[in-house]
Amino acid sequence: QDAELSNNEAKEFLLSLPKERGWRTSHLYLFQNFWCQPKEIQAIISLQKHFQAQENDLLVATIPKSGTTWLKALAFAIVKRTHFNTSLSKTSHNDHPLLSSNPHDLVPFLEYKLYANGRIPDLSTLFHDQEPRLLATHLPFPSLPSSINSSDTCRVIYLCRNPLDNFISVWHFLKGMRPKTLPSLSFEDGFEMYCRGVVGFGPYWDHMLGYWQASLEQPQKVLFLKYEDMKEDISVHVKRIADFVGFPFSLEEEKNGVVEEIVRLCSFENLKELEVNKSGKSIACFENKSLFRKGEVGDWKNHLTPSMAERLNKVMEDKLAGSGLSF
Ligand code: A3P
Repeated sequence: QDAELSNNEAKEFLLSLPKERGWRTSHLYLFQNFWCQPKEIQAIISLQKHFQAQENDLLVATIPKSGTTWLKALAFAIVKRTHFNTSLSKTSHNDHPLLSSNPHDLVPFLEYKLYANGRIPDLSTLFHDQEPRLLATHLPFPSLPSSINSSDTCRVIYLCRNPLDNFISVWHFLKGMRPKTLPSLSFEDGFEMYCRGVVGFGPYWDHMLGYWQASLEQPQKVLFLKYEDMKEDISVHVKRIADFVGFPFSLEEEKNGVVEEIVRLCSFENLKELEVNKSGKSIACFENKSLFRKGEVGDWKNHLTPSMAERLNKVMEDKLAGSGLSF
């Protein structure tokens, strides 16, 4: 499918796709082997056709609810650290954009923002003088615009998360958004759908495996990260990301504590308490405040029964078998 669709063509095209009950809309459709909504399909077709990667573009790629907001904040803070004061010290005035803008406004989604609602953005104006351009997507690797896939120089940072916690995060995020006009969706139904891979941009395992494989084949192009590893030692990951994107920290920066400043600036505790993140909407219909829930590893233990956890772990083990990737 390589062109935008008229209304009628779009309807016909949708009718031709496999569909399942949705989480916050009536249905999810299987498009290019992943599940998504009609509005997203339009934007994805458009961006696949029009988006032109530039040499040093930096793309943040994730599956929803795996730490996208955090990774966007970190990528922005790392790349722009010579432009803005990263310190949260009360003694100095600080006009860092992360203190007044939600990370999703600073690192826009291709499908939810730039190419949403029939727009074809003029990226040269939007990103005037910005190098590298910081962009984001939830698209699976094989569906990235061909100019990204064929570029040897643009970089992709991928973040995923233990599926048990991912499911719990998805559940909390979407349950309040289900319109009253749709039949209710129980926790058990949601779990069932998730285990079958029916979740936005899922199946989760295919999403991970696409980027995992790409990171093995092209390690200079795709950096594969896990939320749990970042939580365990974020300073190491800030340095890894900086090295990967070609902005390594100098010895002097390390001595002056710039890595720790960035860690604090982008921390859950700091971002969650900012006025800008307590109100407003930065992606589609989602409230900024709903992007910051607990930010912990292992919250699934408070919600899943042992047999549910065992089942999802088994699904993942089967799907990831032989790949070298595990959780
Ligand atoms: P929980 O629902 O488990 O709390 P995304 O940004 O992809 O929507 O992912 C949302 C998840 O990341 C939520 O997880 C959210 O709380 C957590 N999160 C948001 N900001 C974070 C940060 N700065 N550090 C760590 N986790 C963060």
